[in-house]
Amino acid sequence: MLDHYITQEVADNLRRPPGEGGSCLPNACYTDPAWLELENERLFARSWMYAGSLDNIPEAGDIFPTTVGNRPVVLVHGHDGTIRAFHNVCRHRGAILVEHPCRRRRHMTCRYHAWSYGLDGALVQRPHFDGVGRHDRPQAGPGLVEIRLARFHRAIFINLDGEAEPFEDYIAPLARRLAGHDLDALRLAKTLTWEFRANWKLVFENYFDTYHVFAIHPRLDAFATSEGRRGFGSEKKLLHMEAKFDQPETGRGVGLPYYPGLAPGLERLEAAYHLFPSCCYQIWPDQLTVFQVFPLAPDHTIEHLHVFLIGDAASDPEFGEARQGVYDMWDELNREDVNAIEWMQKGRRSPAFEGGVLAPCWDSSHQHFARLVVETMT
Ligand code: FES
Ligand SMILES: [Fe+2]
Repeated sequence: MLDHYITQEVADNLRRPPGEGGSCLPNACYTDPAWLELENERLFARSWMYAGSLDNIPEAGDIFPTTVGNRPVVLVHGHDGTIRAFHNVCRHRGAILVEHPCRRRRHMTCRYHAWSYGLDGALVQRPHFDGVGRHDRPQAGPGLVEIRLARFHRAIFINLDGEAEPFEDYIAPLARRLAGHDLDALRLAKTLTWEFRANWKLVFENYFDTYHVFAIHPRLDAFATSEGRRGFGSEKKLLHMEAKFDQPETGRGVGLPYYPGLAPGLERLEAAYHLFPSCCYQIWPDQLTVFQVFPLAPDHTIEHLHVFLIGDAASDPEFGEARQGVYDMWDELNREDVNAIEWMQKGRRSPAFEGGVLAPCWDSSHQHFARLVVETMT
C-alpha cells in the first residue's frame, strides 16, 4: 500500500542530500484522502501525540474531549488524582461519550441509553438493562478503553496504539534543551485558532521553514536578526532551532514575568522545536506556545496555538494589555503564513512538482521530517 506512494525513486530521493538530487514527499501525500487515512492509522496512532495540558483538566472531576489523528479521545482528571485518557466512545452502541469539556463530574454518562462510567473508566450503571425498571450495576462490565499516557510537566501526551518508544526516550532531546526553563510555572492564557485550506504537513513544514521569514514576515525579520537565524537542526524526532535576539522587546507583549530562576544566558533565547509528528514548542523568556494541528481533510487543517504565560500573568488583569500584545503578535504572524501555506497546497496539483528542489542551507529539516513520516509508517 505504501509502495504505491513511496516508490523506489521517491525513497532514493529522500535519501539523497539537498543539493544532490535530494527531495521530499510526492504530491499525493498532500492531496490523497487515502494517504491521510494511512497517516491516521500508521503515523498518528503509532506516535506520541500532544493531547492537552493540565490546564484543560486542572481539578478532580474535570473532563476534556479532543481528537488525535481524527480519533475521538477524552482526558480525565480522576478523583484519585490520576490523569487518564480513554477512547471517547460508549461501549454499547458506539455513541460519542463526551462532546464538550466539563468540570467537577463524578461520572461520564452516555446520552443515548445512559450507560454510566466512572472517571477511572469502569462501567458503573446500565439503566433498564434487563428490562424496564431492572437496572444493572455491573461489578465488572465493559469499561472505557484506556490509552497509554505520559506527562511532560503540565503537557499530556498519548499514544493510541500503545507501541511507541518509551516516552522518556521520545521527550529526552526536548527535555534536555528546556532544562533551564521552569515549565511547571506556566498557565494556559488563551488558545488561538486558524484554518488552512492546506495539508497538515505544510502547516508544520512552514513552521520549521526559517528561509521564508525575510519574504513573508517583515516585523519578525527586523526583530530577530537574520544572521542569528538558520535552518532547523534535528535530533531523532526533534527538530530544533535556537537563536539569540538582541533587539529591545517590542510588539510581543512587554512587562510579562520571566520564567522563575531563568539563567541570564536564557533571557535572550528564542527557541523553536517540532516534536514529530505531533506539535511545536516555541519558547521565549516569558512564554511558551504549543501549536497543534487537526487534519480534517488532505487540504483542510485546523491549527490551535496554546499561549502559556508564567503564573498570574496568564489571568491577572494587570497583565491584560501585555497578553493582548502577545496574542496580536501571534495572530499577525499566522495570518502572514496562511497564504504561503495555501500557495504550496495549490502547487501540489501540478505534475511539474514532485518533492521539490531543496536549498542545502535551509531545507534539510523538510527532508528529515519526510523521512520520519515514511520510517514511522513503514
Ligand atoms: S450507546 Fe451509549 S448507552 Fe447506548
Ligand atoms: Fe511563517
